[in-house]
Amino acid sequence: MTYENILVERIDPRVGLIRLNRPKALNALSPELMAELSPALIELDADAGIGCIVITGSERAFAAGADIKAMAHASVVDMLTDDLIARWETIRGVKKPVIAAVSGFCLGGGCELAMACDMIVASESAVFGQPEITLGIMPGFGGTQRLTATVGKALAMEIVLTDRRLTAAEALAYGLVNHVYPVETYLEEALKLAAKVAAMAPLAARLAKEAVGKSFELSLNEGLEYERRLFHMLFATADQKEGMAAFAEKRKPQWTGR
Ligand code: CAA
Repeated sequence: MTYENILVERIDPRVGLIRLNRPKALNALSPELMAELSPALIELDADAGIGCIVITGSERAFAAGADIKAMAHASVVDMLTDDLIARWETIRGVKKPVIAAVSGFCLGGGCELAMACDMIVASESAVFGQPEITLGIMPGFGGTQRLTATVGKALAMEIVLTDRRLTAAEALAYGLVNHVYPVETYLEEALKLAAKVAAMAPLAARLAKEAVGKSFELSLNEGLEYERRLFHMLFATADQKEGMAAFAEKRKPQWTGR
């Protein structure tokens, strides 16, 4: 499939890279862009040669939010019937680990997209925020939920209610991002992290991601039970046998993803 608003590359070894590519609009997440991002994610997720996906933007902007111009004249009926952000849900269904490599503006829907990923690697110039309140709306893709779960109620309220922006250093201190690197190297570092994840046993990585994700939804008891079931399930895989045999034989495991 050819795309106009994103660029998709397969990077050796086993990493899929998606670049948001609307530089003139600071990668604003238009319906057209999201209509491309969605199948691109599904395709990389289904590709057995890919173990981890990285989503990035440009040095100036990861994404400055949902496309305001595309939403400006929408009615509530348009939003309910066309649901301009329904397609965004695709990222929630991706089974492989996804890393956001963020530089520059990471605002509104851009910040929400980054938070929907499993890890965030930021450049020193990254700025995170939820400015929807300044447009007479509020976050619509997890900005009140994932942000609060990560940085806590007091700071989330300030960000959502006053458009407070976080620098990369603040985002690191509050646990929103995993690492901060200079602008020149943040993408390379994100790809290195992705290669590390992609080198792990694929089924174990998939189920481990699923279990960590469930911790946001389930009670501790339910979460522990869920985790235990997935843990048990891995003992039916060839990779569990291989991983443990390789440990005993003091060699590197050869994963088959079976
Ligand atoms: N939607 C559409 N276009 C956008 C955009 C957005 N979210 N953000 C930037 N652009 C466009 C600008 O309109 C401008 O286009 P033109 O040259 O055609 O005028 C171009 O990108 C460059 O932007 P600026 O000239 O404004 O650049 P700047 O450096 O002066 O400012 C900025 C950068 C602070 C990010 C500013 O562009 C801005 O405030 N953008 C909007 C941020 C925002 O409010 N995001 C939330 C959107 S709503 C949302 O995301 C809902 C949700 O929860 C799902």
